[in-house]
Amino acid sequence: MRLYPPTTASLDRLAAFLRQGEVVAIPTETVYGLAANALDEAACRQIFALKGRPLIDPLIVHVRDLAHAEELAQLSPQARKLAEAFWPGPLTLLGLRRPGLIPDLVTAGLPTVALRAPAHPLARDLLDRVRIPLAAPSANRFGGVSPTLPEHVASSLGAAVPHILDGGPCECGVESTIIDVRDSGKPGLLRPGAIPADALEAVLGKPLERVSGEDQISAPGQLKRHYSPRARLQVTERLLTSSDSSTAIVHFQRPAGDVGLHLFWLTEDGSHEVAARELYRLLHRLDEQGYAEVCIETPPAGPMQETLIDRLQRAAAKDS
Ligand code: TXA
Ligand code: MG
Repeated sequence: MRLYPPTTASLDRLAAFLRQGEVVAIPTETVYGLAANALDEAACRQIFALKGRPLIDPLIVHVRDLAHAEELAQLSPQARKLAEAFWPGPLTLLGLRRPGLIPDLVTAGLPTVALRAPAHPLARDLLDRVRIPLAAPSANRFGGVSPTLPEHVASSLGAAVPHILDGGPCECGVESTIIDVRDSGKPGLLRPGAIPADALEAVLGKPLERVSGEDQISAPGQLKRHYSPRARLQVTERLLTSSDSSTAIVHFQRPAGDVGLHLFWLTEDGSHEVAARELYRLLHRLDEQGYAEVCIETPPAGPMQETLIDRLQRAAAKDS
């Protein structure tokens, strides 16, 4: 495993590796992704193997922009409207795949492909250099906590991942919002994410239907248990103080007064954006520190509440 500093020389080399069908971990504004040429089935097969990801779980394909997305898939007028408003950025849209381009492996045989134009300058630079779409799921073992630092990629995937581009900490810290707006009548929210649903609803001019459970396309990204740390996680309305050194207590906001041992928080001042950015980093850290149990406060109302509660509930779920 090698960590590459974000230099022109690194970007040139990594672009060449990607064009040759190798897998490279790259920073995006949401989380680190494990990228490969989305047009090359053998390259993408390595992603599944490295992550231990079941082949029924489709990958997100990263593109430069809307025009690039439309080369690969047909987008509805509503999807185009959302792309124009939020790309580049943490929004993933489903399009109807054009024949003969994205292999079945990438979409798990679905007629649709999930597309996103990332905003991270290094991801954009690589996409400009390679001039191919990049399939990239989060760069962690299947079911684990997504990486928001290059160190998380290395600790989750180990030596199996040959190249990691170091982009420092991810700005959003949670994955993209996934929207299905193929059927112009009923836009669906498949996964809450870094862009709050109400910002998307404002552009669409209609509410998003929460698609979950059985209604959902079988895709383990939406499995009940996912994003899980090693520690047992409990999400509660009322936190107690920890008397026991194997339990970490996580407040949403820094509590007033003296703070004791084993006490943590996601944000100093209650900012939802900061809480989202810090959540996975803290879960990784608490695992490293060896806590067996983590009790975390239910996030209060605010822009990222739906996304944070979704991730915490999945992380806390006992099984799929
Ligand atoms: O922010 C993100 O979206 C990150 C960065 C790297 O871009 N990627 C990410 O990928 O979170 P991943 O694989 O961890 O989650 C992607 C999820 C899949 O688990 C699946 O549920 C959904 O996207 N997905 C992909 N293609 C789909 C499709 N055609 N229909 C429905 N859901 C799809
Ligand atoms: Mg993932």
